[in-house]
Amino acid sequence: VMQELLQPETRPSESAYDTLGHLVTDDLSALDALLDTRLTSAQEPLIGEVARHLVNAGGKRIRPLLTLATARATGYRGERHLNLAAAVELLHSATLLHDDVVDTSPLRRGQTTAHVIWGNKTSILVGDFLFSRSFELMVECGSLPILETLAKAAATIAEGEVMQLSTAHDLEVDDERYLAVLRAKTAAMFGAAAAVGAQIADCRREVVAAFHSFGMALGIAFQLADDALDYDGTERDTGKGVGDDFNEGKATMPALLAYRSGDPEAQSFWKRTIMESERREGDLAHALRLARQSGATLATRQMATEHAEEAKAAILSVPPTPFRDALSELADYAVRRRS
Ligand code: IPE
Ligand code: IPE
Ligand code: MG
Ligand code: MG
Repeated sequence: VMQELLQPETRPSESAYDTLGHLVTDDLSALDALLDTRLTSAQEPLIGEVARHLVNAGGKRIRPLLTLATARATGYRGERHLNLAAAVELLHSATLLHDDVVDTSPLRRGQTTAHVIWGNKTSILVGDFLFSRSFELMVECGSLPILETLAKAAATIAEGEVMQLSTAHDLEVDDERYLAVLRAKTAAMFGAAAAVGAQIADCRREVVAAFHSFGMALGIAFQLADDALDYDGTERDTGKGVGDDFNEGKATMPALLAYRSGDPEAQSFWKRTIMESERREGDLAHALRLARQSGATLATRQMATEHAEEAKAAILSVPPTPFRDALSELADYAVRRRS
């Protein structure tokens, strides 16, 4: 109830996201059509059932949107950017299937997670299937440099997820170490998604690098905003459970900041719940309140804003086009978003 009361009267405008979406509307519909052709297996109908449950539940498609936009921003006129965008979204989908098992998350895109419905084994294996389908699409593009960019990102995501296992319950982790995990688990994919659009357009090395930096910084901003939303978002907007991170005992940025600035009582609360995983009734509500009242959620968004600014600065050197402007706006949206 409190969550609802604290929501603004009207949802903030998400027009920045729409601006970019409108610029590539046709590409986005073509993307969904292409995705649907790659989700099934002729041998095993269960694969399509699980894959469609996740992929057709929507999602913001922000990573493939980056690929489509940077391809258009750099003047690409062909069709292969659609393959790349689909590859990017399938890679993301695979990581989500795996991540929800790792995090034991109950909800994704407003639906019961695949592992709850079909079990961990099925989720992991269908994740592997989508991962492989993603690489098939990349190979169809016929570019080794692009394959290299995405293969590196895929390895880095896995590294980030494993790195997170060891830092997850550590309230003493410093910002640099925390951000290193975010760079790996989230930003690497955003960086690769933005870079390959420019690579397919045969851009100069500097332009590819600029879009890659843009994506990386945007990805950090996006994940920090996601950390904040876990504390002050709503299930209706995010399609994920409120307080999932806290419930999993994850020391995300709002918890780290609330712990650091907390009085002894608050500090022992965070230690008990996050480090010692000892839970009592009312802990979640208390955590949400502490994170908000201490200013930790706000400070997390301020950090996100700094990275969004860095993202915008990274593409100042590329030729100005409506796509570049829309990408800059997307950086603001990444921080402001409620979903
Ligand atoms: C979820 O990504 C994983 C994070 C990096 C937070 P998104 O928030 O882009 O998820 P969908 O694709 O829109 O569902
Ligand atoms: C998302 O990590 C990153 C990957 C899927 C690799 P999180 O665990 O922080 O994101 P959500 O909250 O499940 O979307
Ligand atoms: Mg998760
Ligand atoms: Mg996770």
